[in-house]
Amino acid sequence: MKLIIATIKPFKLEEVREALTGIGVRGMMVTEIKGFGSQSGHTEIYRGAEYAVNFVPKIKLEIVVSAAMADQVVETITSTAQTGKIGDGKIFVLDVAQAVRVRTGETNDDAL
Ligand SMILES: Nc1ncnc2c1ncn2[C@@H]1O[C@H](COP(=O)(O)OP(=O)(O)OP(=O)(O)O)[C@@H](O)[C@H]1O
Ligand SMILES: [Mg+2]
Repeated sequence: MKLIIATIKPFKLEEVREALTGIGVRGMMVTEIKGFGSQSGHTEIYRGAEYAVNFVPKIKLEIVVSAAMADQVVETITSTAQTGKIGDGKIFVLDVAQAVRVRTGETNDDAL
């Protein structure tokens, strides 16, 4: 299993959710976050230390899928969330060691 962590622009959430359910994604976590990437975190120096300012609102998606589906999920998020302008987001893919469906005790791919 893989965990896909993606940041997207908030107005893209509904389109991305629809595209992901369309390819068979059955669950995801959605969190409103603030962050910065390579431009928007203007840094400033205050008493010798560097502080990041201008955090920008984003949506963070966390999606656990079978390893076989991970590439398709990444491609779907990329093509759906892309506007071509700065700040379209980032996608990170991590390995997942274990999953459990609490209701039934099913594990791993069966728990997704
Ligand atoms: N290296 C990183 N680690 C963790 N989160 C990141 C990282 N880079 C970006 N993010 C998160 O992704 C969000 C979107 O970043 P953003 O799309 O601006 O990245 P970027 O590299 O600056 O790309 P772009 O050039 O398209 O702006 C940020 O607000 C932040 O939440
Ligand atoms: Mg950026």
